[in-house]
Amino acid sequence: MRTQVAIIGAGPAGLLLSHLLHLNGIESIVLESRSQADIEATIRAGVLEQGTMDILNNAGVGARMQAEGALHHGIELAFGGRRHRIDLTELTGKSITVYPQHEVIKDLVAARLAAQGELLFEVSAVELHGVDTTTPSVSFTHRGEAARIEADFVIGCDGYHGVTRPAMPGQGRQDYQRTYGFGWFGILVESAPSSDELIYARHERGFALVSTRTPTVQRLYFQCDPADHVDNWSDDRIWAELHARLENNDGWRVNEGRIFQKNIIGMRSFVSTPMQSGRLFLAGDAAHIVPPTGAKGMNLAVSDVQLLAQGLEQFYRQGSEERLQGYTAAALKRIWRAEYFSWWMTSLLHTFADATPFKREVQRAELECVVSSRAMATALAENYVGAF
Ligand code: FAD
Ligand code: DHB
Repeated sequence: MRTQVAIIGAGPAGLLLSHLLHLNGIESIVLESRSQADIEATIRAGVLEQGTMDILNNAGVGARMQAEGALHHGIELAFGGRRHRIDLTELTGKSITVYPQHEVIKDLVAARLAAQGELLFEVSAVELHGVDTTTPSVSFTHRGEAARIEADFVIGCDGYHGVTRPAMPGQGRQDYQRTYGFGWFGILVESAPSSDELIYARHERGFALVSTRTPTVQRLYFQCDPADHVDNWSDDRIWAELHARLENNDGWRVNEGRIFQKNIIGMRSFVSTPMQSGRLFLAGDAAHIVPPTGAKGMNLAVSDVQLLAQGLEQFYRQGSEERLQGYTAAALKRIWRAEYFSWWMTSLLHTFADATPFKREVQRAELECVVSSRAMATALAENYVGAF
């Protein structure tokens, strides 16, 4: 097989890149290790920045997102027994949309298949060859048969646990990493929304987050031990924890309902540079991870591939590699801003096992500053909506 761009991974990064290239008349093949049903059912992110929506709309894949996504103009910060609204739209002129990542995946898969895009599911044994030459290739197994794609470029969109980052030459690489001693316990619940807007809550028992999916399905998270197991958490225990962390004496209550999905997510900050070696480029979680508190991961994956699509378009239209060579530097500007914000939101809202009484009071004072100073609220809002 031969194509112009071989893409490893059919997450938001790989699928969108393939679609953006198609719109520019550039061929690609996407290799995905899981099944179509699997990638369309994996529950992950929910918050799309305005810029992400604009990219999806401009690419012609935004119709269902516009019809079914929920536009949010603010978020709430809860601490010290009170809730405080951050008016994102008043402070920045922008808003966010809550639309599940797996719905974005469905829309992108449908667009690729409608355009006869080549999308190979359930591939295994993916290996990269000759990425430091102008004729790289990818070998893999599909439907029990060995296969190979010859390409001009290979793009690693295969997430944090993929094979493309380890295929980058070790020399000259620098990885930056921070782990947090906690994770998030996430649930999906059949109930009406508890709140019109997302609630980020800091409580002595730990962080909690009220989000939503549809008018009848809600998404909630609470800080937990990353080594804990979902089987240790009965529904009653989960509700007791959420009530304790989220409610105060103003009468507002979290709506209970049937819990039909439970998972535990680890938290890490990670950046691997450079994001290019010869004809191999990395995008999205393959190159960087943020803790989920700032809701940035999927948005970063989208902005990376927009840069790559522009670079590849310049290469095929004008024969110039200028933009491609500038990819790492251009992408890292936004990535480090999001790394900073995600770390900051995480630090502001979670309880830390090693927190001294001094650190706890400083954290509380910082939250007070954010909700009482327009300047600090604006800084949070600008970062949250992605206005940078
Ligand atoms: P992925 O989505 O990880 O896709 C990689 C794909 O590559 C996968 O389909 C995988 O099966 C495939 N693959 C892996 N290895 C191979 C291989 N060897 N060969 C072929 N295919 C391979 N982000 C936000 O922006 N907003 C949020 O609100 C948000 N909330 C989150 C909540 C949770 C609980 C989690 C876990 C994440 C959240 N994120 C959020 C982060 C977001 O989900 C990720 O950043 C996003 O999925 C990254 O997209 P990607 O395409 O880079 O990688
Ligand atoms: C969701 C996830 C996040 O990480 C976040 O900050 C807000 C919402 C969600 O899955 O809905």
